[in-house]
Amino acid sequence: MSSPLRLAILGCGTVGSEVVRLLHEQSADLAARIGAPLEIAGIAVRRLGRDRGDLPVAPELFTTDAVGLVKSDDVDVVVEVVGGIEPARSWLVDALRAGKSVVTANKALLAEDGASLHDAAADGGADLYYEAAVAGAIPLLRPLRESLHGDRINRVTGIVNGTTNFILSAMDATGAGFAEALEEATELGYAEADPTADVEGFDAAAKAAILASLAFHTRVGAADVHREGITEVTAADMASAKAMGCTIKLLCIAARGTDAAGRESVSVRVHPAMIPLSHPLASVGDAYNAVFVEAEAAGPLMFYGRGAGGAATASAVLGDVVAVCRNRLAGVRAPSESAYADLAVRPMGEALTRYHVSLDVADKPGVLAAVAGVFARHDVSIATVRQAPAGTEPAGRGADAVLVIVTHTAPDAALAATVEDLRGLDAVRSIASVLRVEGGE
Ligand code: NDP
Ligand code: HSE
Repeated sequence: MSSPLRLAILGCGTVGSEVVRLLHEQSADLAARIGAPLEIAGIAVRRLGRDRGDLPVAPELFTTDAVGLVKSDDVDVVVEVVGGIEPARSWLVDALRAGKSVVTANKALLAEDGASLHDAAADGGADLYYEAAVAGAIPLLRPLRESLHGDRINRVTGIVNGTTNFILSAMDATGAGFAEALEEATELGYAEADPTADVEGFDAAAKAAILASLAFHTRVGAADVHREGITEVTAADMASAKAMGCTIKLLCIAARGTDAAGRESVSVRVHPAMIPLSHPLASVGDAYNAVFVEAEAAGPLMFYGRGAGGAATASAVLGDVVAVCRNRLAGVRAPSESAYADLAVRPMGEALTRYHVSLDVADKPGVLAAVAGVFARHDVSIATVRQAPAGTEPAGRGADAVLVIVTHTAPDAALAATVEDLRGLDAVRSIASVLRVEGGE
């Protein structure tokens, strides 16, 4: 057994406290797997006086001096579970440049400025691991960054935010509206007091950027991701989806394709979408996460599990700790960032999507022709059209009839322009529901 490896733990909240607990409970197994015991050099927190229950750790290990802890010669590995951009970025860049291995769960920082961390890791010859940053406990980034490096990934489609998946699952199960389902999620502790990052899609967009970077060997940042949250999803939208044999999920989608000039590029987006109940992601309920990867040789792969929670996330953090410690003892480091492909990120307007549009219309001759003409003008092909008498459809109150149209795939800009023009048609009284559709074509 080698001499102990020393860990600086930055943050001791939901995730950090479980990291500390598991380090204690699993210490013998972890030492055996690594070949050296692990010791905690210090734990940086914001409030020294905070009640931390019965954490199995000496009180003198807590400090508010994160900078001093990171810089200490006595530290081999820095585990960052604080979150946010600064001061986390400065701590981690300093640690990596000094050759210390870093394990972080900080998706916001990786998506905002992963480049600084990867560059610092390269400068310092240090390991940067972040399995917990996307989909919590699910082993997903290691497969993308290592196991699938012999293959070519074409598309990644995921449910990567547990809070919104809980809300949408509740809306599907009970017919509740968004506000009511959010209230339930808050009461049960799934949604935070300020749910903005989750319900507006910021959390999922950060994860989408990280997934796209790994899948396509290209630096993709949060600003490159088209983002729409779930606050506008209504009970009527969910009922429309159910009437079509579908449900609605907040999806992160990263896909290869070609841009307008025919060059290979990627599109990365987060938005609610209807998916058929037969799609593997449709049955992912409650706060679970799942990611569906489509690779050229491997075919479809599905990763499923808990995307959040202290212990579940700590499992991924500790897996990374074991990996970086083994590397240190072996005198090697993991393969560095792979961004050689450097593909352009296509704007949302060029992403290929399908729409489901539900229209309240007058029931008289020429209406269907006028509506179809708008689709044709924008070169959007209609896949199915269904007319139902008013009152028989969830969205049809006040209409003579409801037209439910699902398109074939088209550039998102053409679909959006179609919807805009439909609003101007005399025969269209209102547009009851517009949703993108994924899967099934
Ligand atoms: P918490 O808010 O529960 O904990 C944050 C911790 O950081 C607290 O211990 C806090 O100290 C400490 N802290 C905050 N600011 C400072 C500072 N300036 N200096 C030193 N310490 C500081 O966060 P979580 O544990 O939920 O999340 C941590 C990270 O893990 C985030 O990046 C998050 O995105 C990521 N993550 C979280 C998941 C989850 O389920 N919670 C799932 C996947 C990833 P104090 O205790 O004194 O307040
Ligand atoms: N807030 C996130 C979620 C967990 O609801 O999935 C942290 O990634």
